[in-house]
Amino acid sequence: MTDILITTPMMPIVIETLKKACTVHCLWEHDSSAAFLKEVGPRIRGVATSGSYGRTDAALFDQLPKLEIVSSMGVGYDNVDAAEAARRGIIVTNTPDVLNDEVADLTIGLLLATLRQIPQSERYLRAGHWVKEHFPLSPTLRERRIGIIGLGRIGKAIARRLEGFGVGIAYHGRTPQQDVPYAYHPTAAGLAAESDVLIVITPGGAGTKHLVDAEVLKALGPEGVLINVARGSVVDQQALIEALRSGTILSAGLDVYEDEPNVPQELIAMDHVVLLPHIGSASVHTRNAMGKLVADNLVSWVQGKGPLTPVPETPYPGRG
Ligand code: NAP
Ligand code: 8YV
Repeated sequence: MTDILITTPMMPIVIETLKKACTVHCLWEHDSSAAFLKEVGPRIRGVATSGSYGRTDAALFDQLPKLEIVSSMGVGYDNVDAAEAARRGIIVTNTPDVLNDEVADLTIGLLLATLRQIPQSERYLRAGHWVKEHFPLSPTLRERRIGIIGLGRIGKAIARRLEGFGVGIAYHGRTPQQDVPYAYHPTAAGLAAESDVLIVITPGGAGTKHLVDAEVLKALGPEGVLINVARGSVVDQQALIEALRSGTILSAGLDVYEDEPNVPQELIAMDHVVLLPHIGSASVHTRNAMGKLVADNLVSWVQGKGPLTPVPETPYPGRG
């Protein structure tokens, strides 16, 4: 049977599905991963990994000379060096689509929580303040124009939900899309200037690093709200802290950070931001669907049918 390495603990469905078709090695179960990799590394042909392992890159590939495929948990695969994998002829797969609705739901929840100050008002009640005074009136979603940076699979699912709220929607990406009814802006700053809320839902990595910087935040303005559910790297975190501190923007709802799971004390100390611990896809239902796709990609490849969802950097003949 084909030897598969799992780098970090995953949903039981991943391990159970893989064990039916492959010999599975769990890296975290071994005290010395270096010694373990030295022993089994030469036999490993497939890897299942996720962002919680850290980066899956040349350092690991070097120890797995027969590696042919990396199946990564998550639609974002900035944790995998796909360019290096492509150079070595290693296929990389991710988990697109199965999480679109979950992440879009969470984004709407975070948007409303940030605008209507839902966590703050709950803290207020629990602290016993309501018996003395009403919670102050909050900002609103009413009459806001929403700008989406990254109108892809998840961005579109967010936009569809927002249509039900009766708000204006526009977007920024590298290319305008013909089949959407929303206005296109060729720059992030241009979109920010015409928006009251910016929702960021692009991939991470070098191509989007600090796409939302001090200039974009200034353009968003003093009533503006930033929602980041993409990757921490897409927003210049220090510029964001300054913008929140100085009133350059009104508030922010964040699910992702530059150095997860470390969140700057400056953000934690601010009462006008809502901070989530990267839970966009984190329901049992959706993580099972993602885990199943991680395993199904490997099993399909082991059976000679090719990977199900290869990333664009490592296309598989016959599949986009
Ligand atoms: P997708 O379908 O590939 O969409 C990505 C969008 O980003 C595209 O519309 C693309 O448009 C745009 N984009 C890419 N590079 C850009 C750039 N340099 N500047 C501006 N726009 C750019 O991906 P998806 O499935 O919607 O997922 C998007 C991302 O969401 C993932 O990669 C991940 O980082 C994040 N995510 C977060 C969570 C969470 O738990 N918080 C969960 C799932 C996903 P153009 O090609 O026209 O530029
Ligand atoms: C996961 C995500 O938290 O899919 C993504 O890109 O950010 C999330 O769904 C994570 O990737 C799991 O490793």
